[in-house]
Amino acid sequence: MKSLVSGASGLLGREIADAFEAAGCQTVRLMGRNSIDITNTPEIIGFVEKEKPDVIIHCAGFRDLDEIEKNEAQGFAVNTFGTKNMALAAARTGSKLIYISSDAVYDGEKKTGYHEYDLPNPINVYGKSKYMAEQEIRALCQKYFIIRTAWLFGLKGHRENNVIYTIIDKINAGETIQASGDQLCSPSYTLDIAQALVAVAATEYYGTYLVSNKGSASRYEVTRTIAELLGLDGRKVTQADSGKIRLAKRAKNTIFDSIAFSRTFGIDMAFWKDALQRCIAAYKKTGAEN
Ligand SMILES: NC(=O)c1ccc[n+]([C@@H]2O[C@H](COP(=O)([O-])OP(=O)(O)OC[C@H]3O[C@@H](n4cnc5c(N)ncnc54)[C@H](OP(=O)(O)O)[C@@H]3O)[C@@H](O)[C@H]2O)c1
Repeated sequence: MKSLVSGASGLLGREIADAFEAAGCQTVRLMGRNSIDITNTPEIIGFVEKEKPDVIIHCAGFRDLDEIEKNEAQGFAVNTFGTKNMALAAARTGSKLIYISSDAVYDGEKKTGYHEYDLPNPINVYGKSKYMAEQEIRALCQKYFIIRTAWLFGLKGHRENNVIYTIIDKINAGETIQASGDQLCSPSYTLDIAQALVAVAATEYYGTYLVSNKGSASRYEVTRTIAELLGLDGRKVTQADSGKIRLAKRAKNTIFDSIAFSRTFGIDMAFWKDALQRCIAAYKKTGAEN
């Protein structure tokens, strides 16, 4: 199988490219804006037509929620229009398309966990741009997997966009970190998501899936746990309301309780805390993987 990964310089894209390669796939990496800008329609379509991958894993995206709130046009250009370009390209080459979407498509008002049949109702520009990207794929492709995932931790990608390195750098610099205590989700390890997607890509069980580690936590709980597992002072992490520290509105509860994913693919995801322990153990063993 030949795979093409966009956003391969990023946190998730790099992990996915490494996982597909480790599974024996020939893997083409679109590293980011320095390779091809996904908003450039002829270049993206020309590149995909030249490479003819069996599967495209489209991870490139603009994921700073507060920046997108201030710069809506750029957010929709990268996240929605860029995804439309990838969908057009996949449709032309007959490639399967795996699109990485987000829990931000939900409004967070549900009192229990979200599943694949809950209606999206995004409450910020980022969430809208991701949901509209999903809709472009549904309109243009047949062989697609839309993967909504949740808050990601891992060891790859740009240091400044990586929660683990941000915690290390800030605490070592003597700074405190404010993390929201009012935002619950199903935190997920990029390695577990990447390995699940290798299995997904081998099937033809197309559709929309919620994929995360099991369990739930607030941003505050995860941030503090990361600091403590790293042997740093957890008291440097303080709890705040997302409305006080963030510009874009955040959904309060996007805990996942998938109906379709494990039934379809037979994959039993680990609990987030076990996954985080593995991740930090890998960091202690190998250091930053950049
Ligand atoms: N991180 C999370 O918690 C999370 C949660 C749910 C869903 N997601 C989704 O997962 C995907 C990957 O996120 P991530 O956390 O890995 O993000 P990331 O670390 O910020 O990586 C984003 C990637 O997209 C590339 N990119 C950005 N704009 C581009 C453009 N115009 N043309 C080509 N490439 C471009 C970046 O390249 P450069 O090297 O040029 O920056 C980078 O490789 C995104 O679609 C995001 O919405 C993320």
